[in-house]
Amino acid sequence: MRMYDLIEKKKNGGSLTKEEIGFMVEGFTKGIIPDYQMSAMLMAICFTGMNETETLELTLAMKDSGDTLDLSKINGIKVDKHSTGGVGDKTSLVLTPMVAALGVPVAKMSGRGLGHTGGTIDKLECFPGFCTALPEEKFITNVNEIGVAIAGQTANLAPADKKLYALRDVTATVAQKSLIASSIMSKKLAAGSDAIVLDVKTGNGAFMKEEADAVALAETMVKIGNMAGKKTAAIITDMEQPLGNAVGNSVEVIEALDALRGEGPEDLMEVVYALGTQMLLFAEITDDRTKAEKLLKETIASGSALKKFAEFVEAQGGNQEDVLTQGRLPVAEKKFFAKAKKDGFVTDILAEQIGNACMILGGGRETKESVIDLSVGIRLTKKIGDAVKCGDVLAQIYANDESRGKEAVAMVENAYRYGTEKPVDRSMVKKIITE
Ligand code: URA
Repeated sequence: MRMYDLIEKKKNGGSLTKEEIGFMVEGFTKGIIPDYQMSAMLMAICFTGMNETETLELTLAMKDSGDTLDLSKINGIKVDKHSTGGVGDKTSLVLTPMVAALGVPVAKMSGRGLGHTGGTIDKLECFPGFCTALPEEKFITNVNEIGVAIAGQTANLAPADKKLYALRDVTATVAQKSLIASSIMSKKLAAGSDAIVLDVKTGNGAFMKEEADAVALAETMVKIGNMAGKKTAAIITDMEQPLGNAVGNSVEVIEALDALRGEGPEDLMEVVYALGTQMLLFAEITDDRTKAEKLLKETIASGSALKKFAEFVEAQGGNQEDVLTQGRLPVAEKKFFAKAKKDGFVTDILAEQIGNACMILGGGRETKESVIDLSVGIRLTKKIGDAVKCGDVLAQIYANDESRGKEAVAMVENAYRYGTEKPVDRSMVKKIITE
């Protein structure tokens, strides 16, 4: 078999067999198939797609490209959560300590930023000393002792995805249904939890811009999860504007900590409660949605979720005080302001452009080797539905470089759209898919 022929076949719209997919995934993982051939294949998949059987075979081949975690030493029903990626999406940081405080063991593998979207692992590294490369034994001990551990994908967990993820990030081949489904589900199946809750984002800041595509992606992933014997649900949530107000790394962590103190933006909390409810149902903490949401809210009101987060940060090498005392996380010192160009109501905010502005500041990766600046970011002060006057501040930009700061200002200003009428309020949760 030759990779050249497989690229040619996919370019012409052919379907790859299980053996061909296996050959390609194994060859790429071992470094026999070079990046340039895999890049061509990824682009061919973006143009001609993959059918359901190919997507399933790709997922299984990627899952089997390395080890699978054995979480049987962790007591209780382990429920994993994963987002398809968005702008300002700090949901995991808020949600995991909340469900852990309610007794759901959280053993989570998270990723780094991809394209214009952020990643939980980059954000957690804002805590000085925080270790995201936990050995398996320590990972399991931490979950048993404090209820939550979050680690980066270990080198040998779905290594095919690890390599493909990094390559897709820099070859404009992220936003493809089968590639996203196989990437997420290969990791989730290898990570060994009992149930999976997926946050599938739709809108201009998501990889799936159209709701119908997000639903198709969700259905594919739920089908793969259920076929693999894991209870799986997907919640379709809105990504027509950044989630919450902060976009970046340390600014998002600060917002997540505010949320755990009861000061979270409404849109963020709506998504957190929807995902958390599904996690509590799968973990059999309750079988009632209303009760589940009430329990989640109590973790904020009582401070138990914030306390859990502090314990978790300390257990992974950070300092509890960085969680419990406000103002300790560093934010870039140069401040710039994006301003409204006319009067009216904000009708749209191009979230992908806000994500790209953050990348220009240095908050995202441009090449596989890029080192990101955790202290830069954007804090929106106006969101969809807000009334503005020309010259009002739309967003604060935190930069370490004057010219990048100015470039980001222009991008943020151009990401806003205005109308004369206040747009109707949007629901953050569009659909829940369990079958
Ligand atoms: N998250 C992933 O883990 N993989 C993707 O392809 C997109 C989002």
